[in-house]
Amino acid sequence: MFTDSKTISQALQESTVALAPVSETARLDSEVWLAYVLGVERPWLLAHGEQELSEQHLADWQSGLQRLTGGEPLPYLLGHWEFYGLMFQVSPSVLIPRPETELLVDEALAWLRTHRLRTPGRAAADVGTGSAAIPVAIAANEPDVTFHAIDISPDALAIAQTNVSQHGLAERVHVSQGDLLAGFDAPLDLITANLPYIPSARVPTLTVAKWEPLLALDGGADGLELIRVLIQQAGRLLKPGGLFLEEIDPELEDSVEALARQQWPTAQVEVLADLTGRPRLLRVQLEAAK
Ligand SMILES: C[S@@+](CC[C@H](N)C(=O)[O-])C[C@H]1O[C@@H](n2cnc3c(N)ncnc32)[C@H](O)[C@@H]1O
Repeated sequence: MFTDSKTISQALQESTVALAPVSETARLDSEVWLAYVLGVERPWLLAHGEQELSEQHLADWQSGLQRLTGGEPLPYLLGHWEFYGLMFQVSPSVLIPRPETELLVDEALAWLRTHRLRTPGRAAADVGTGSAAIPVAIAANEPDVTFHAIDISPDALAIAQTNVSQHGLAERVHVSQGDLLAGFDAPLDLITANLPYIPSARVPTLTVAKWEPLLALDGGADGLELIRVLIQQAGRLLKPGGLFLEEIDPELEDSVEALARQQWPTAQVEVLADLTGRPRLLRVQLEAAK
């Protein structure tokens, strides 16, 4: 499939064709991968299309391209990925942060900005934090919030801690191991979560399950096993007037809404749609104290 010498344009053309069956963004992926191999920015590639790749660059480019055509996600090859305009370290121990999760960050920031308290220092928890993309994106954009970033996976927590430190947020985003919010007893103003929500039977049918951690995907028999427990725990921990945000699988909309209404009969419960119009985010605004 590959020849011995290649210019940048030829490499880009070849990889775009090779990646088309596995990626909807084959040309973009090709540019990102080659730019990474050469240690340059993408626009540089386009201005230097006639330049020939060195032997080493060609070998690196080819071995990565083989992994990509085998379906391995580009962020795992790069070791980083962008979320909410910020760069995050990623590895196969964490879910690759998804654009649809930016809705959760938008909602949290909008709420934090409009619900200023008389006493500063809002307390928040991000449950199932993975790469810590959610608490880092929120805390980097809103100074008056402190997060507990919790995950059950020690490998994910190592990546989370790196990201928190790299963004200079170690004083306001505290990474710790936990099984949801078990054993947690401090009252919270805000709870955010993107817990595993794929029903177990559907997990093996998904391409992502081949590469991304099962622990980040499998939501149990009905997809709700963890979310159900977290809603109960949040019922105990969330302060009056607090906010609960949980990303969901669109198919879980009705059952998740019912769970939330059962837990918080007087709260404002809604499911917000993502940019593609699919139900994506459970938002529960608790009633303020009387
Ligand atoms: C869907 S991933 C979300 C990662 C990250 N919050 C994001 O949005 O990119 C779910 C995360 O929940 C974690 N997790 C699974 N079961 C958990 C549990 N019982 N308690 C805490 N975290 C859990 C997984 O390790 C994984 O990192």
